Amino acid sequence: MHRTAVDDWAGFFPNAPVKNHLKIAITYAAGETGVIRIVKTNLEKRMNLLIKDRKDLSLSEVERMMELIFSIWPPDDGKTDIEKIIERHKNLQPKSFDKVIRFFLGNELIGHTAIFNREIGIETEKHEILALAGVCVRSGHRGKNLGKKLVKKAFEFVDGSQFNCSIFQTSVPKFYEKLECKQIQNTFINKKSKIDVNVNPWRDPYVMVYPKTYDLGNHIIDLNGDCY
Ligand SMILES: CC(C)(COP(=O)(O)OP(=O)(O)OC[C@H]1O[C@@H](n2cnc3c(N)ncnc32)[C@H](O)[C@@H]1OP(=O)(O)O)[C@@H](O)C(=O)NCCC(=O)NCCS
Repeated sequence: MHRTAVDDWAGFFPNAPVKNHLKIAITYAAGETGVIRIVKTNLEKRMNLLIKDRKDLSLSEVERMMELIFSIWPPDDGKTDIEKIIERHKNLQPKSFDKVIRFFLGNELIGHTAIFNREIGIETEKHEILALAGVCVRSGHRGKNLGKKLVKKAFEFVDGSQFNCSIFQTSVPKFYEKLECKQIQNTFINKKSKIDVNVNPWRDPYVMVYPKTYDLGNHIIDLNGDCY
C-alpha cells in the first residue's frame, strides 16, 4: 500500500522544528524509503498574521490578548484583574497611532505585539518614535520564526518612513540584533514622573533602537512618560 503521510511524519517527530512552516513529508511504501518531498501543510494554511487598530478590538479580543500576555508575564501580585483591564480598554483615549499585531493558528492566539506612537524629547527637540511592547509568542510555538515575523511587521512602519526609528526595552537583545536593531547606552529620564524625573524609566536591562544605523548620539533622552 502506498501512502503520503504528513500527519504520520508529525507523529513520528512530534518535537521537530517546523522551519518556514513547511513539513517534510516522506512518501513511503512497503519496502520503499527515502522518497522525500516538500509540501505545504494545513498548519501553514491556518497561520494568520493580523494587524488591527486597538480601538477596533472587541472586548473578547482584548481578553484573549491579556490571557496570552499574562501567561508569559504574570502580574507582580499574582492577580490578573481582567475586568479592570477591560474597563480601561472601554475608556481608552486612542493615540493617533495604536495597533496590535497578532499571530493566529486557526482560532488560537499564539503571538502578539503592540505598537504605538510616543513623543520623546532629545535635548530641546521633540521626536515621534515607534514604541514596541509586549512582543511574545506562546510557549510551544517558539522557534518557528513567528517572533521574527511579528517584529518585522512592526518595523514596516519605520521602513515605510512613518517613523524615523523604534526605541524599546528588552531582556533578549540577541533576538533583536538579528533583526537589524542595536543596543543603545543613552541616559533616559522621564520628565512626566511625579516621583523623580531622573530615575531611569525602563524596567528591562537593555534598551534598543531600530534600525541599527539610526544615530541617537550621546544625548539624554526624555521618555516623556512611563516605560512600555
Ligand atoms: C523572544 C520571542 C518573542 C522569540 O520568538 P520566537 O518565535 O521563538 O523567535 P523566532 O523563531 O522568530 O526567532 C528568530 C531568530 O531569533 C533567535 N532567537 C529567538 N529567541 C531568542 C532569544 N531569546 N535569544 C537569542 N536569540 C533568539 C532565533 O534563534 C532565530 O534565529 P535565526 O534567525 O538565526 O534562526 C519568544 O521567545 C518569547 O515570546 N519569549 C518570551 C517573551 C519575551 O521575552 N519577549 C521579548 C520581549 S522584548
